[in-house]
Amino acid sequence: MRAVVQRSFGDPSVLRVEELDPPQPIPTEVLVRVHAIGVNPVEAFIRSGAFPLIGQPPFVLGWDISGVVEESTPHTWRFQPGDEVFGMPLFPRAASAYADLVAAPALNLVRKPAALDHVHAAALPLAGLTAYQALHDLAGVEAGQRVLIHGAGGGVGHLAVQLAKLAGAHVVAVASASKERFVQALGADEFVDYQSRDFVEEVDPVDVVFDLVGGGLAERSLATLEAGGVLVTGVARTDAALRAKVEAAGVRFAAVSVDPDRAALETLAAFAEDGLNVHVERTFALDEAPEAHRLVAGGHVTGKVVLVPTSRT
Ligand SMILES: NC(=O)c1ccc[n+]([C@@H]2O[C@H](COP(=O)([O-])OP(=O)(O)OC[C@H]3O[C@@H](n4cnc5c(N)ncnc54)[C@H](OP(=O)(O)O)[C@@H]3O)[C@@H](O)[C@H]2O)c1
Repeated sequence: MRAVVQRSFGDPSVLRVEELDPPQPIPTEVLVRVHAIGVNPVEAFIRSGAFPLIGQPPFVLGWDISGVVEESTPHTWRFQPGDEVFGMPLFPRAASAYADLVAAPALNLVRKPAALDHVHAAALPLAGLTAYQALHDLAGVEAGQRVLIHGAGGGVGHLAVQLAKLAGAHVVAVASASKERFVQALGADEFVDYQSRDFVEEVDPVDVVFDLVGGGLAERSLATLEAGGVLVTGVARTDAALRAKVEAAGVRFAAVSVDPDRAALETLAAFAEDGLNVHVERTFALDEAPEAHRLVAGGHVTGKVVLVPTSRT
């Protein structure tokens, strides 16, 4: 099979397609023929060496997959060959998803919603579960609450806008002007272009801030948060000084670390059947992984970026 292998940390050019032996599924696992692979910022951080989450190279990056079960072991009862599945298996251990074939625990996969093709299904798990876990498991968002999202037009943010709306919240979306129509179409009630306006001056108090950008935005958001509110960060999880400042302001600090929660993924699949908009800005072939990483590492994607093994196109 073909896989995007990296043999050293470095710039995107270290990502190269090689022929590898297919992985062998063990009991409770299935072998998935991958039709599409979601690309996430964490993979760019790992590739560069800035965040060595899966150890030293060589390795194959990637978690988000959508594809077809090719082989099921005798002890694996959840899926049969031919089933269409998606998920983010094994995260944060290596899943080696930038490949034609992936061996994955069946428990980490769910049936692909018919409403999504493989490209859009592969874009959903990691970003969607991050949004779901931040808003529901951590913030406990309730109908009528006001939720502000920094990075509302990106992979996690565009799904968070929709999940917050589905929960009955009033959503304030913060993004660049180029994304205004996009996030409003997703249901955002208010929009702030961070390049020309200051959310601190323009936004009435909110109950929840979800920060997907960092760089001091969490701290600045304290001026906008109601006492008793929640700040959920996806980017400053281990910042003890930030946590102390947030708690001193009477606001709860919560840090999301996404995991492959099967029940939440089933919920996201059901939302997709009901019209959740998973937006893919661009697809790339497997051998264009360096270009995909350049785009994602640039930090201004609208929705998601997806790799499509060329053998499937
Ligand atoms: N902790 C976890 O478990 C977890 C899980 C997933 C992601 N993350 C992290 O969360 C971050 C976002 O992930 P993602 O996949 O959504 O990334 P993404 O797709 O790159 O989206 C980031 C978005 O932020 C916008 N942005 C940049 N500067 C901004 C600013 N000052 N104010 C408001 N928006 C701004 C960008 O576009 P515009 O500038 O054009 O608006 C872009 O749409 C990444 O750092 C990622 O590593 C963490």
